[in-house]
Parts: sequence; structure tokens; C-alpha cells
Amino acid sequence: MDVKIVKVLDKIYTEDKENKYWRVPRTSGQLLRSIALSITAKNILEIGCSVGYSALWLASSGAYVYTIESDKDRADLAEKHFKEAGLNNKIIILRGDALEILSKWNKKVDFVFMDANKNEYADYYKKIYPFIKKGGILIADNVISHKESSKTFLDVVCKDKRVISQLIEIDNGLMFIVKK
Ligand SMILES: C[S@@+](CC[C@H](N)C(=O)[O-])C[C@H]1O[C@@H](n2cnc3c(N)ncnc32)[C@H](O)[C@@H]1O
Repeated sequence: MDVKIVKVLDKIYTEDKENKYWRVPRTSGQLLRSIALSITAKNILEIGCSVGYSALWLASSGAYVYTIESDKDRADLAEKHFKEAGLNNKIIILRGDALEILSKWNKKVDFVFMDANKNEYADYYKKIYPFIKKGGILIADNVISHKESSKTFLDVVCKDKRVISQLIEIDNGLMFIVKK
């Protein structure tokens, strides 16, 4: 991985030890990168950017990353991190409410990473599903740590015959979904 990206990832990690920006654990970041690389993802959508830690892992695969964030300060900090990592041309920050942005979404994506409001996961899923390419992947974070709030989403996914889903029991719990 480019040394500039590694430096920014390390900086975010060490400067935010108490994790007030709710970034994914490093192991989840590594897994996101590996999956993006394995499917040669071209366009990734992230719902929930915060200060850009997971977006940097995703973009380190070489894909374009569209990342949604409603909080101005966190989006500003993410923008700074993307510039420092030399990835500001590969990561596009979409500022605003995820449900509003998804209502107007029209781009096909190979990979979606969901990590915003857990109570809205089922709605994000319904809105983004038509834009996931066949064989594309959706990963939802925190389905173990936020079991109650992600329950509606998990019920929808487990009954959905159009996808194959598998819980990855690492870190905060990642729901791995493949569109058939
Ligand atoms: C868990 S953090 C994301 C962490 C990030 N994925 C990472 O690992 O570095 C969730 C972020 O989603 C944002 N968020 C929550 N609900 C949102 C919504 N409805 N629209 C846009 N952003 C939202 C929050 O402001 C917060 O910064």
C-alpha cells in the first residue's frame, strides 16, 4: 500500500485512541480492502464516512469510493485526510443525509459498505439494492455490537432470496451479502 495512505491510517488510529469517531477496527479495515481487491471493485459506496478511516482502506484497493456523511466537522476532517493520503481524486464525499442521497442515487456499484445509522440499515438496503451489480457485495458493520437496532435489517436480508448472506463474526460483526 502507498506509504502516504499507511501514514494517514496510522495517524487517525493513534490520534483517536478512545475512538470518538467510531472508526472500524483495523482488522475490519484490512478485510474491506482485501474484499475490494478480490473483486477488483471499481466503484464503492460507503454509507457513514466519519473522518474517513474505512474509506481510506477501501480506496487503497484502487477503487473510486463515494462516501456519505451528514456531520460537517467529520466530513471536513475526512476531506483533509483524503488530501494527505493523496486520495482526494479517488474518494468523493457526499455531504448530507444518507436516505436523501440514496433516494436520488443512479450509479451502479460493485461494493457497498454500510456504517451509518443502524436503525436505517433496512432502508439503505432497499434503496441501494437495485444499484448493486450482479455478483456485487454489500457489507454492513455492527450487526453484533448493535444487534437490536440492526434486527429489522437482518430479518429483511435473511429472507431475501435474491442474495446470499453470511455473518462474519469478527470485531463488531460484519454482515456479508452477495447479490446473486
Ligand atoms: C460509525 S461512523 C462511520 C465510521 C467510518 N465508517 C469508519 O470506519 O471510519 C458513522 C457515521 O455515519 C454518520 N451518519 C449517521 N447517520 C447518518 C445519515 N442518516 N446520513 C449521513 N451520515 C450519517 C455519522 O455522522 C457518523 O459519522
